[in-house]
Amino acid sequence: MSSKMKKLYEGKAKIIFSKSSNQVVAKYKDDATAFNNLKKGSIKNKGIINNIISSYLFEMLNHCGIPTHFIKRVDQKSQLLKKVDIIPIEVLVRNYFAGSLSKKFGVKEGTKLSDTLIEYCYKSDKLGDPHISTEHILNLGLCELSELELIENYSLRVNDVLRGIFYAVGINLVDFKLEFGICKKTNQLILADEISPDTCRLWDLKTNKKLDKDRFRRDLGNIEDAYLEVLERLNLKLK
Ligand code: TMP
Ligand code: ASP
Repeated sequence: MSSKMKKLYEGKAKIIFSKSSNQVVAKYKDDATAFNNLKKGSIKNKGIINNIISSYLFEMLNHCGIPTHFIKRVDQKSQLLKKVDIIPIEVLVRNYFAGSLSKKFGVKEGTKLSDTLIEYCYKSDKLGDPHISTEHILNLGLCELSELELIENYSLRVNDVLRGIFYAVGINLVDFKLEFGICKKTNQLILADEISPDTCRLWDLKTNKKLDKDRFRRDLGNIEDAYLEVLERLNLKLK
């Protein structure tokens, strides 16, 4: 279906097509990148798997009353979305030490945080997505204080919903990244982008086996199997 639509933007993991003045179609790619594009590759069936997983999780979040851009999945690799202006902030939500947080403070990966931690990065490929404080966000005018408060409130609610969904299928939600946007039609702040093994750290509850993009970042192998395992544990089908 995407062949007839105008391409608006091509990112590292998705292509965005214009559907109407208020709607876009996102087509998920198999391409994988890490470390701000320094490491490049491809993961077999990633586009299909992430489209299915992200569609399911956004549907759950919509049901839980969190406003999102998600309308429906339209085919194997594509979903129909409300058009937004993305706020140039990555919101990192963490339940355990891992990744850059473990590195920064020298704390072993998998150590539980005493409380959920929210961090922010400035979305800028040129600058390598630097970590920023809430004061930086407000000073740089990346969003308003009321929007930042809503972002934090929604992020904690998303964490509660997702932790429950993953815990029920034997997966520990270690951390994840969210993006928000302003809906073109309603001017409302809503959750955007994707939630998938590309954007979350997902560890098996019993063995701590990594079921996410760290398998690609760290050359751990069996990447497609790990993504498929998340899909199957969520009782979703590859179709
Ligand atoms: P980090 O430990 O590398 O800062 O990553 C924290 C979480 O955010 C982890 O689940 C991976 C996710 N993430 C993205 O989805 N995109 C990114 O560009 C980065 C840096 C992290
Ligand atoms: N998304 C980032 C990149 O493509 C980094 C990452 O996910 O590790 O470079």
